Amino acid sequence: MRKKLLSMILCVLLCAGCTNGKKRNDDKIKIGVSVYDSYDTFISELMRDFNAAVAENPDITVEVYNASVSQQTQNKQMEQMIEKGCDVICINLVDRTAPKKIIDLAKKNNIPVIFFNRELVEEDLNQWEELYYVGADAAESGIMEGEVAAEALRNEEADKNGDGVIQYIVLEGEAGHQDAIVRTERSVDTLIDEGFEVDKIASAIANWSRSQAQTRMAGFIDTYGDEIELVLGNNDDMALGAIDAYKAAGIERKDWPVIVGIDGTTAGLQAVVNGEMLGTVYNDQKGQAEAMANLAEALARGESLDDLNLKNGRYIRLPYQKITIDNVNDYLD
Ligand code: GAL
Repeated sequence: MRKKLLSMILCVLLCAGCTNGKKRNDDKIKIGVSVYDSYDTFISELMRDFNAAVAENPDITVEVYNASVSQQTQNKQMEQMIEKGCDVICINLVDRTAPKKIIDLAKKNNIPVIFFNRELVEEDLNQWEELYYVGADAAESGIMEGEVAAEALRNEEADKNGDGVIQYIVLEGEAGHQDAIVRTERSVDTLIDEGFEVDKIASAIANWSRSQAQTRMAGFIDTYGDEIELVLGNNDDMALGAIDAYKAAGIERKDWPVIVGIDGTTAGLQAVVNGEMLGTVYNDQKGQAEAMANLAEALARGESLDDLNLKNGRYIRLPYQKITIDNVNDYLD
């Protein structure tokens, strides 16, 4: 009897400082983040906004790791973040098809994980109830890029050879990335829906990278020259790489094709202001960063997620927005 009483008292004492293992309102919280590549422009701008969002709360500390495009490295970082006592971990998967190790570790150690930007398949997310995703709807960005391109093509008399067909090039992100696959498909479908006849001259994978896109585009300019009437970049950095290639080739602005991107990065917005890029689609880095920060804090404290409007209880997707010269000023800081 005495033994039982003692163990009850011990349990009450131990549990006094916690709410289901979650932090109370005034406790410090530690959030771990691993990004797939800290040199990726969009990701680095998203992290800038994430750090700014959490900096508003002195009770939150953040540790950010760069996986340097290695899933193995990211798996090790997951272990380190757990050892360091992170309450919630945010993962920008290197390989969106290989989240197993991360999920196993999360489950085993009972630490919620917010995946972001690089979307794992739903079956993987459903492997445990404390897994979440913050990002956007890839199809929406493709459709909007097609619409932005259609508007520019109409305004610019872009059909240089007057054959009634738009000859185009696509600069694609990484093979297997949800945004690359879906944006490529939907942007072109949208152009067709908008009444354009289109003819794909070429496409190249440039891994979201400005310099890789410049190299590939330089090759296309050599081969196809004036035939190119439209360049669809799966993101702003690759559209900017195409612009770099036209500049490096010494081709005058009036002879460039229509060039459009997606993201609305600082450099992308500037290119829209300059009239070099004829439009982009805002990938709401600030909204995604704030959603991640709010979700992370709520998870660490075990608070209700009702106000965060999660779809299927697990997903937060921020809407994309079209940007052209007409509204670009609304996006500049
Ligand atoms: C996309 C973004 C790209 C790149 C990629 C990385 O959403 O548009 O610029 O950052 O994510 O996963």
